[in-house]
Formats: sequence, structure tokens, C-alpha cells
Amino acid sequence: MTNSAYGRSNLSPAPRRAAGRTPSALLAIAPLVMCLAVLPVAAMAQEQPAVPNTMGTAPDGSKTHGGQEASKDDLGKYTLPDGTPTYRIAPDGTMDWFTYSGYRRYHAECHVCHGPDGMGSTYAPALANSLKTLTYEQFMETVVNGKKTIGVGTADQVMPAFGENLNVMCYMDDLYVYLKARADGALDRTRPSKREDKTKEYGANENQCFGRK
Ligand code: HEC
Repeated sequence: MTNSAYGRSNLSPAPRRAAGRTPSALLAIAPLVMCLAVLPVAAMAQEQPAVPNTMGTAPDGSKTHGGQEASKDDLGKYTLPDGTPTYRIAPDGTMDWFTYSGYRRYHAECHVCHGPDGMGSTYAPALANSLKTLTYEQFMETVVNGKKTIGVGTADQVMPAFGENLNVMCYMDDLYVYLKARADGALDRTRPSKREDKTKEYGANENQCFGRK
């Protein structure tokens, strides 16, 4: 009886211990398993943020690039969380000053080659299309340094370098947000009507850029 009891107790604890060990072993490695499962997902989420590459409605009801919340500075410029400037159309249709200013600058400096409203011409590409894929940095680089594609069509196409033209350099963010608004479909081809006023700070900045007092 003692033997058999001992024998039984000797036998049974072993499987019980083994059975007990399995869950605790699983618990011990569970955080590791979870990390391994979560890490690639987190990395993917960082590489490809789920911001749509078009116009969207921001939490405050305005229209911005990707519908992201935009913050406004003293100049009247709106920027996205990653620091890129954006157009912003208020719920009542009022456009930000930079987009309106960009519209005017575009038609003064770029229209002659790139066509009205960024629609393109036989000579130069439609920027309302280019800005669907060009980054802010690529846009800046091209406008400052120019671009020349050799051997396209019958004539070489030349995008002049505007790096020393203040009428362009002082309005780079304006041009960018205007063309981005066209690319995102936030602005149609009608002349913009309702707009925010030019701020005092914008005017001061403009004067400084042109070297005026
Ligand atoms: C004298 C004509 C001319 C003027 C003025 C001009 N461009 Fe261009 N631009 C071109 C040509 C031609 C190309 C194509 C160059 C190439 O592909 O090598 C181009 C290309 C570009 C590109 C690159 C487009 C792409 O799809 O890669 C950008 C951005 C651009 N221009 C912006 C501007 C802006 C902004 C202005 C006004 C400040 C302007 N351009 C004024 C002729 C012009």
C-alpha cells in the first residue's frame, strides 16, 4: 500500500510537473513571440504610413493633403505633422493665403511653359500631374537647379534653374502648395475666390526675402 502509494505518487507528480512546466514555459517565451510577431508589422507601418496620397478631410472638417491635421504659423502657412507645407481649404471653401499666392506666382512665372493651371503644354510637363509623385524636396531641387532631359522628342527640353530668381525663390512654398492642391484635386480650374488675408508677418518676410526694408 505504501509502495503502491509511493509508486503512484512517484509516477504521477512527474507528468503533473511536466504538464505544469509547459504553460509556464510558454508564458516565459510569450512576450518574445509577441515581439517577433509585432515588430515587422510596426516596421511596415512606419515605412508606409496609412496617409492617402490625395486630398482628404481633416478632423476639423478642412481639406488638406491626406486629410491630415495641419498647423498654421504666423505667416499663414499650414504644415502637416511631418513638416511638409500643405494647402488647406476651410469647410466654407476659404483657401489659405499660400495656395492663393502660389496660384498667382505660377501664372506669372511658370504658366508660359507648363500651361494654365498646371495642365502642361507640348513643351513642358503637366505639373498638376508631376506633383502626384514628386516629393517636396524633389520639387525644390528641380526648381532651384533646373532639369534637362536630353533626346526626348525632337528638341531638348529645358527646365531653367530659378535659384537666383527672387520672384520664384521667395514663393517656393506657395508654388508647392498650389501645385499640390491641383495634383490632389483640391482645386479645380476656376479662379480661386474666397481666401485668407495676407498676414503682416508674411509681408515682412517677403520684404526681407527681396532685401527690401
Ligand atoms: C522656359 C520654360 C519653363 C519655365 C518658365 C518653367 N519650366 Fe518647369 N520645366 C520645363 C521643362 C521643359 C521641363 C521638363 C524638363 C525635363 O524633363 O528634363 C520642366 C520640368 C519641371 C519640373 C519637373 C517635372 C517632373 O515631372 O519631373 C518641375 C517641378 C517644374 N518644371 C517646375 C516649374 C515651376 C514651379 C516653374 C515656375 C516657377 C517652372 N517650372 C517654369 C520648362 C519650364
